[in-house]
Amino acid sequence: MSKQILILPGDGIGPEIMAEAVKVLELANTKYQLGFEFSHDVIGGAAIDKHGVPLADETLERARAADAVLLGAVGGPKWDAIERDIRPERGLLKIRAQLGLFANLRPAILYPQLADASSLKPEIVAGLDILIVRELTGGIYFGAPRGTRELDNGERQAYDTLPYSESEIRRIARVGFDMARVRGKKLCSVDKANVLASSQLWREVVEQVAKDYPDVELSHMYVDNAAMQLVRAPKQFDVMVTDNMFGDILSDEASMLTGSIGMLPSASLDSNNKGMYEPCHGSAPDIAGKGIANPLATILSVSMMLRYSFNQHAAAEAIEKAVSLVLDQGLRTGDIWSEGKAKVGTQEMGDAVVAALRNL
Ligand code: IPM
Ligand code: MG
Repeated sequence: MSKQILILPGDGIGPEIMAEAVKVLELANTKYQLGFEFSHDVIGGAAIDKHGVPLADETLERARAADAVLLGAVGGPKWDAIERDIRPERGLLKIRAQLGLFANLRPAILYPQLADASSLKPEIVAGLDILIVRELTGGIYFGAPRGTRELDNGERQAYDTLPYSESEIRRIARVGFDMARVRGKKLCSVDKANVLASSQLWREVVEQVAKDYPDVELSHMYVDNAAMQLVRAPKQFDVMVTDNMFGDILSDEASMLTGSIGMLPSASLDSNNKGMYEPCHGSAPDIAGKGIANPLATILSVSMMLRYSFNQHAAAEAIEKAVSLVLDQGLRTGDIWSEGKAKVGTQEMGDAVVAALRNL
């Protein structure tokens, strides 16, 4: 039976990087006889322009019916003035929530070829391989009530809510432990239990879940310390599990350890490993349309899709190998460029990965 992949390029650099990732995916599809069929649709600002909302019902239905979704990025200045409830980002949050994609895997792996592109000293990041497991459908991103109210003195006050139920914490903790079990067997749970009630429960539930994983070494860290440790001694971490907002922030920070956020892929999975795959970076409106964005994060997201949704490990590894070979050739987009390397554009980078994959 054929497998359906829904492609949602989104806004800004989204369509440019997606075009390259799709080339790689199409080649993998024929080379490894994966039996994929593709369809395309709009999300974010592009959907606002077409349908007046950032995620149309028909697009959501298509995503539900698909076996996996590949997404570019959403948002841009054109839609900044729109009211919060129908901003481009709401489309992304809605598809995550509606598909139940609670487990967001964000690996920060340093390709040895890029050690000098990192903002940290090479010896601090050499060999870095961290996995951030971010809770993606709960917490302050979705908590109610939220809004703006008027105080007695006439001043406006805005507020958000950070709720976590035991079951939400338990299921993401399990993903963290499961991932640690097949990696370095170390899990660090990141919270702010010295201040937040939600974090106190988080820590308690993670402790309970830990009883089922005696083979995994569990530690807890406050998020402020974790942010510091990530730039001080990042190799102490194997898997980190954390809530929606802390994970958003720490994964951006971790990306810079690897040279550029343009290298970081992600997988967002439901309880059956159905997934949506997207680069961790945003739509980068400042460089959109210039053909200079780094397509590797999206290409590596394709590889995560093959691995997690389709168990196509050989094809996934081949794509990662192709990326590594292209870096060996000295090809660099601007974000990972350093002296002596060849600066290439989005399309050249994509073509080089396709050529490397074809020859494997
Ligand atoms: C991310 C992004 C999104 C998030 C935005 C675009 C809503 O920053 O995927 O990390 O905050 O989750
Ligand atoms: Mg983010």
